[in-house]
Amino acid sequence: MSVREKLHIGMSLAPTWLSGDAWRRSDSEIEQVYSSDYALDIAKRSEAAKLDFVFRPDSLFLNVEALENGPGFGSLDPTIQLASIARETSRIGLLTTVSTTFLPPYVVARQLQSLNWISSGRVGWNIVTALDGNENFGLAEMPSAQERYERAAEFTEIVRRLWESYPAEALKLDRPDGRYADSSLIRPIDHDGAHLRVKGPLNLPAFGNARIPLIQAGASPDGRNFASSVADAIFASAPDMEAALELRQDLRLRAEGHGRKADDIRLMPGLSLYLEQSREEAVSLFNETHTRMNSARKFASIMAMTGLDLRDWPTQRRVTAEDLPPLPEKLRSRTHAELLRRLILREELTVADLLTRPEVIGSAHWQIVGTVEDAVAEITKWQSAGAIDGFIAVPGGSVASMRLVLDEVVPRLAEAGLFRTDYSGNTFMDHLEE
Ligand SMILES: Cc1cc2nc3c(=O)[nH]c(=O)nc-3n(C[C@H](O)[C@H](O)[C@H](O)COP(=O)(O)O)c2cc1C
Repeated sequence: MSVREKLHIGMSLAPTWLSGDAWRRSDSEIEQVYSSDYALDIAKRSEAAKLDFVFRPDSLFLNVEALENGPGFGSLDPTIQLASIARETSRIGLLTTVSTTFLPPYVVARQLQSLNWISSGRVGWNIVTALDGNENFGLAEMPSAQERYERAAEFTEIVRRLWESYPAEALKLDRPDGRYADSSLIRPIDHDGAHLRVKGPLNLPAFGNARIPLIQAGASPDGRNFASSVADAIFASAPDMEAALELRQDLRLRAEGHGRKADDIRLMPGLSLYLEQSREEAVSLFNETHTRMNSARKFASIMAMTGLDLRDWPTQRRVTAEDLPPLPEKLRSRTHAELLRRLILREELTVADLLTRPEVIGSAHWQIVGTVEDAVAEITKWQSAGAIDGFIAVPGGSVASMRLVLDEVVPRLAEAGLFRTDYSGNTFMDHLEE
């Protein structure tokens, strides 16, 4: 398997290190979490560590049930938040999340190109088809995954063509000749498709000629096919190295099938890191963070993803392949449902053990609970096996754990030659193409 010599690293600005009970710690600064300064501080630290980008996942819905214990997906609008960061940073990429299911593509193309101007070429788009929020947009039901991906492909094509519809070269600003722009270079897109109709052109020129990176989240067969056809990277859940190897190999083959180079698509799994000075302390940090997450919520989540009702099972009974009913027809995310199924098939865990695994709550990210050395060793292992092109850090447990990622893990990866020691380019695409 081909190996990516230098990793690409992104840092989540969703404060995952405050999730579970971690926000209750005295040093969490939870009161600041909706302020611009909070995320700005992390973005500056991430830029000092020379990361490729900071990243804001997003959702357009409030989970009121979860709100008593945590933010329930509440957050600032990601593109506006990143605009405030753009003015105070100069090199780091700014990856925002915008759903293709709910918003009109003209507005999305304009907002992203606006942020691209404000940041001098540092915007990236995390394309999601979304999991919730349909009722906030007049849709009684969430469209099926197939329909969402069809629309996503059409939507993405429109946004790309809108960005090209007013190219940077068209802007002349020629004072002596009094010529503002060369209108012969403007190309309306006249799109009339299955889901969307957009005439164009965009009312904003492109910033320079660097392409805006596209990142995709979602890894069902439809998701993989879509990602490998257009995306520069995929943000994926890969709980173990075999899952990452399979996904990376598959995406590379699919990219070639779409006439692209295998290296054009980069696998960047989410990486959850609970770091402490010793392994024992790290395990305690993990346990303290998650003790209050109640079993009722986990049982409901297992039921929704597999159709299996474990509420009355003895906690020491093993869950095996025979226990699994066929996949439910209505699934929020096929990726997460498949990952939970895969865990049950591979490990045949007891109910008690199953409840401790991240796959159960639909965040089946790669997870490291240990020391800085453990993290560096594990990341190096995945990199040298050709399982990843990089990762998106979603640190957990505490602010200190998040800081260890930026202040210690990343510099050690750079010392080992696995990550850049300085930026060589200015745009987000420059960093990805390095
Ligand atoms: C790692 C990962 C991260 C995701 N992040 C978001 C997000 O920030 N916002 C969102 O609305 N959907 C998010 N999604 C949902 C996907 O966009 C997609 O709707 C969902 O996974 C269903 O597609 P699938 O069947 O291909 O998995 C994410 C999915 C994955 C796997």
